[in-house]
Order: sequence, then structure tokens, then C-alpha cells
Amino acid sequence: MVGVLDGKVALVTGAARGIGRAIAEKLAANGADVALCDLQADWLKDTASAVESRGRKAACFAADVSQAAAVDTVVSGTNNALGRLDILVNNAGITRDTFLLRMSEQDWDAVIDINLKGTFLFTKAASKLMIRQKNGVIVNIASIIGLIGNAGQSNYAASKAGVIALTKSAAKELASRNIRVNAVAPGFIETKMTEALPEEIRRKMLEAIPAGRFGRPEDVAEAVLFLSSDASSYMTGQVLNVSGGMVM
Ligand SMILES: NC(=O)c1ccc[n+]([C@@H]2O[C@H](COP(=O)([O-])OP(=O)(O)OC[C@H]3O[C@@H](n4cnc5c(N)ncnc54)[C@H](O)[C@@H]3O)[C@@H](O)[C@H]2O)c1
Repeated sequence: MVGVLDGKVALVTGAARGIGRAIAEKLAANGADVALCDLQADWLKDTASAVESRGRKAACFAADVSQAAAVDTVVSGTNNALGRLDILVNNAGITRDTFLLRMSEQDWDAVIDINLKGTFLFTKAASKLMIRQKNGVIVNIASIIGLIGNAGQSNYAASKAGVIALTKSAAKELASRNIRVNAVAPGFIETKMTEALPEEIRRKMLEAIPAGRFGRPEDVAEAVLFLSSDASSYMTGQVLNVSGGMVM
């Protein structure tokens, strides 16, 4: 079967579980070989098996996205193991939720370092390679919280708003090099990240979703596939909202 990403190499961060794993599987199912990066080396093996079960190559990298030297090693390692890098998906992310007045400097720094600085470091390292290749696609996983804010998530909201601004700036800088940079802004997606929320909050969230259901990791992966493929070749600097209508 011919896939829309045949011959392409993708790199997905935070690929051990949740949305990142679903993205890795989706890109592999559509023909891409996939490099996988996460802090959780053991879980990465499961994602690698899922990629390989679709007849594609996988390469695993246990690394922290907020560490510049580690990021450079992952990008050069992807090039060495899989031969090139066509698609970068910046997905790794964390939350450290609490109200502003109670938020520690550590909670602020951890979220900004992983969600925003990690996206910057990978975008910088990958775009150097993509410029040499004369093509590339970068998809950043933001959040609707980066568009509308949320009480108890000022660090997370600021990091995701930063990811959106970084997406637009990088898109402007890199368009002439044939590199597209877009973002996906998911709403409430059922993963380990949202599993921990109290039932009362989940019920309120559900009431605010016109589609009447929480999102699935696959819903986000479909949007990433679209932005990774030539189907979106005239789109750059855009934020695709995948929230069941929660934000319009
Ligand atoms: N779940 C949602 O409702 C939702 C909504 C909007 C946006 N998002 C975003 O989607 C992305 C994925 O979220 P998820 O729900 O799958 O979360 P998750 O917690 O299930 O998965 C996140 C993955 O990132 C990895 N990770 C965390 N810190 C890392 C680091 N420093 N270096 C490398 N890997 C690291 C984790 O080990 C984990 O495998 C995140 O950026 C998140 O902010 C999620």
C-alpha cells in the first residue's frame, strides 16, 4: 500500500505514551520511519514495536527535551540512524498545576523549560538539518489553554502561548527555506495527563464541549498527519484547533 509519507523520516518527542505515541503510530501507518524521543526509555520500546509492526523503522532516544546537548544528539542520531529528517513533531509536555499565588519558581521553570524551551531547542537543531535538505515540516503540539488561559495553569498557558508565538515566528523565518511550521491546539484529550483530574472538573469540561465527548489521542494524530503531509503544502504559521468545538 502506498502511504502519503512514504520515504519520509519523522521525529516525535514525548513518544512513549499518550498523544505522542498515537502520532508516532499514525505517521508510521502512513509510511514514515520514526525516531522516538522520551525520558521514559522502557515505554519507548513499546512505541518502537508498534512502529515496526507497521513495517517501518524506529530509532529510540532516551533524552530530556530541555537539555540542549541531548537535543543535538537526538537530531544527529536520527540523521545517522534513519538517513534524514523530514518531519519534527514537538509533543513532549508536562503540567504542574496550581494557582498563581501558590506556584513555586520550580513549577514555573519546569513547565517553561520542557514545553517551550524544548520546542525551541528541537526546532533550532532540526531546522539546521532541514535547511541543508531544502525541505522540512515542523508540527508543534500547543493547547487551547495557550489561546484562552486557565485558572490554575498560568505556567502551562504561558508555555503553550509561547509555543504558538514560536510557531508563527519560525514559520516566517523558515518559509523561504521550504520549511513549514504549524501547531495543533488540542482541547481535552483522554491521556494520563488528564486522567488525574477530579471527576467534578471532568464533568464541567465535558459540558463545555459541543461535540459531547472528550478527544482521543488519534484525533490529534490525524491533524498532525495532515500538517505533516503535502495535503497542507500551502499552510504555514497556522494553529489547528482539535477540541470538539470547545474553542471557536
Ligand atoms: N491530554 C490533553 O488533554 C492535552 C491537551 C492539550 C495539549 N496537550 C499536549 O499534548 C502533549 C502530549 O500530552 P499527553 O496528554 O499525551 O501527555 P502524557 O503525560 O501522557 O505524555 C507526555 C510524554 O512526554 C514525556 N516527557 C515529559 N517530559 C519530558 C522531557 N523533559 N523530555 C522528554 N520527554 C518528556 C513523558 O514521559 C510522556 O511520555 C503535551 O505537550 C501536552 O501539553 C495535551
